[in-house]
Amino acid sequence: MALTCNQYVWKKQIYFIKWQAISKCKSRRKIGNRHIIIAVDGPAASGKSTTARRVAQQLGYTYIDTGAMYRAVTFKALQDGVLDRLRHSPELVGGLLDALTISFDGDRVLLDGRDVSLEIRDNRVSREVSFISSLKPVRDRLREMQQELGHERGVVMDGRDIGTVVFPDAELKIFLVADPAERAKRRYAELSAKASSSSELPDIKQLEEEIIRRDREDAEREHAPLKKHPDAVEIDTSRLTIDRQVEMVYTLAKERERG
Ligand code: DC
Repeated sequence: MALTCNQYVWKKQIYFIKWQAISKCKSRRKIGNRHIIIAVDGPAASGKSTTARRVAQQLGYTYIDTGAMYRAVTFKALQDGVLDRLRHSPELVGGLLDALTISFDGDRVLLDGRDVSLEIRDNRVSREVSFISSLKPVRDRLREMQQELGHERGVVMDGRDIGTVVFPDAELKIFLVADPAERAKRRYAELSAKASSSSELPDIKQLEEEIIRRDREDAEREHAPLKKHPDAVEIDTSRLTIDRQVEMVYTLAKERERG
């Protein structure tokens, strides 16, 4: 099938990321166990990325942060000053998607070849990402990319719709939840660790409201809303340490690897 120039660029990106992922993991995989897909979904700041990243490291799997992909598209819309235009004419998002490339280099997220790992965590991006991720063309394009990335299995992918839409056949589906107040505390600690002065820090109550608003928008959107798959194992992390969370998911993963 002939590919348009843009389709070609997307395919090339997918193959490049797959190649990176496969060459990183091959040497660490154990013979005998099957390689599975682990979907980790849940609301904002529920500990998904930390848990998913550490479980992937322990299993020798590839970790894919799908939230970072939605954030990168949002950052691009902000950078190009087209966000307001998209609110009135969402169909224009196709042009934006055709003009960008997203790739990963280890933990770093590259947008059009530039490292944007820090910028995509900015509050401006966090405020607008629910809108961008509610647009069907964005979801369709990123879902296709995520499915290609997980095609070889041996991945831990975190997001909102991984167990329900991207990989409904994932051998292990986890749904992490936590109290909004606890999640705001964690997000605050994360931001404090990165901020160079306290004046840059948002109010903790404001963070909690922001988290609740984002949960609502992610759960109520029309396309691929945040919800728990009936087969998913729900873990409430409000009173768990990260080590304990990781251990629980790792143990389940080892069981599922054995089939
Ligand atoms: O995990 P995160 O907070 O970085 O995700 C940012 C946003 O991206 C989140 O508010 C919803 C969206 N998202 C999504 O819609 N589907 C995914 N699979 C991952 C993230």
